[in-house]
Amino acid sequence: MIEGAKIAPLLKVTGSPLMKIGLFYGSTTCYSEMTAEKMQEFLGPETLDIHNIKETSLTRLKEYDLLILGISTWDYGELQEDWEAIWDELDNVDLKNKVIAFYGQGDQEGYTDWFVDAMGLLHDKLLPLGPRYVGYWPVEGYDFAESKALTPDQSHFIGLPLDDESQFDLSEQRISDWLTQVVEEYLELTAE
Ligand SMILES: Cc1cc2nc3c(=O)[nH]c(=O)nc-3n(C[C@H](O)[C@H](O)[C@H](O)COP(=O)(O)O)c2cc1C
Repeated sequence: MIEGAKIAPLLKVTGSPLMKIGLFYGSTTCYSEMTAEKMQEFLGPETLDIHNIKETSLTRLKEYDLLILGISTWDYGELQEDWEAIWDELDNVDLKNKVIAFYGQGDQEGYTDWFVDAMGLLHDKLLPLGPRYVGYWPVEGYDFAESKALTPDQSHFIGLPLDDESQFDLSEQRISDWLTQVVEEYLELTAE
């Protein structure tokens, strides 16, 4: 059980949610789905809605100001299949005024040359649509050869990589630290 004790005061005013966050994920073998459920447990279901993109219209993205997008990488740097199925539709989504954070499930040992590539592909795909991004995450603590999900200076991933194959023990702490960071960065951005 993980609890959002640290950020709860940021999210709630007199018991009602201060913001509604929408998490949209695609997941082939349920790892990204389980991550979404852990995130919902951490932030609370009154704050975080989760949607499987296989069963949800992209029009629902517009219901939220802060979006968390979860995507796993398959077959040597390829997109998760449900994201791939709606890839072209993403060009027509209105993301101006949206703030987005990404997480990606991958395997840094088995696929060390393509670690969480799909997260980077999704980040780059949506960039021209005008959103602002939060939740970049340091590369320290991971051991991989290459990734398309890195910042140009290679110091950070453009979202949170999770590796439930070889670093499962680290995932829960990463999730809680990252969500805290995402909410804080969002509040800072929108306070400007
Ligand atoms: C056939 C196969 C190909 C994979 N290819 C990659 C890859 O290129 N890069 C990567 O980081 N992880 C790769 N993975 C690891 C998956 O991303 C990982 O198992 C992830 O947890 C799956 O998440 P999902 O169940 O939410 O789809 C691959 C796994 C399998 C079984």
